[in-house]
Amino acid sequence: MEKLYEGKAKIVYPGPEAGTYRVYYKDDATAFNAQKRGTIAGKGVVNNRISAQLFRYLEAHGVPTHFLRELSEREMLVRQVEIVPLEVIVRNRTAGTFAKRYGVEEGRPLARALVEFSLKNDALGDPLIYDEAALALGLLSEGELARIRELALRVNEALKAFFLERGLELIDFKLEFGRLPDGTIVLADEISPDTMRLWEVGTGEKMDKDRFRRDLGGVEEAYQEVLRRVVGGAG
Ligand code: CDP
Repeated sequence: MEKLYEGKAKIVYPGPEAGTYRVYYKDDATAFNAQKRGTIAGKGVVNNRISAQLFRYLEAHGVPTHFLRELSEREMLVRQVEIVPLEVIVRNRTAGTFAKRYGVEEGRPLARALVEFSLKNDALGDPLIYDEAALALGLLSEGELARIRELALRVNEALKAFFLERGLELIDFKLEFGRLPDGTIVLADEISPDTMRLWEVGTGEKMDKDRFRRDLGGVEEAYQEVLRRVVGGAG
């Protein structure tokens, strides 16, 4: 089947029905704008299953998404959208790039949840972008920007509660949004340990891609453990 697009972690194919795509999740892992490359065995299965579960949960909590259904262990069916070229990052505690940029230690709680935007452009290293610049460049409308911010904060509230019930704290995450043909904004891309930071409550253990980025070991085990908790329910 002809590929429509191949990214770092996923491949997009035409879907079986008009207006759909089939998304295949790979084991390939990259970090630091693809300067570090590797594979995480079983990651594609884990990320497909976690993303599917979280999309279903978010739909039930008032967040429209591109997700339609799981097709196989590594594949999901999604609605075709036009991706808004912004990475929408939500933060609850300082970590990663944010901690470095402002010279603060990792793990400091933020006084309020923060929504940040980066331009989706690998060649430029996904630079941080102001709301005003995104609007001036015509990347989206003011109404879309307000809707994306509202949905990002709703996702944060829903996922924080979801993970806390499973002994994990949601530190930060990245979302992407898309437009349906009628202009409706929906959550797209994936939500997985590749795109979130999750710290185990009590121990502070990192249960996400930072284990790969920082060579902490136990990468596969952490991904499997997150999957176990996500599908296993609260408790
Ligand atoms: O991950 P890094 O320190 O480079 O950047 P960050 O801005 O601190 O990342 C915030 C959150 O967004 C983390 O959970 C990252 O995993 C996620 N992220 C992502 O999934 N894709 C990107 N291109 C950038 C960040």
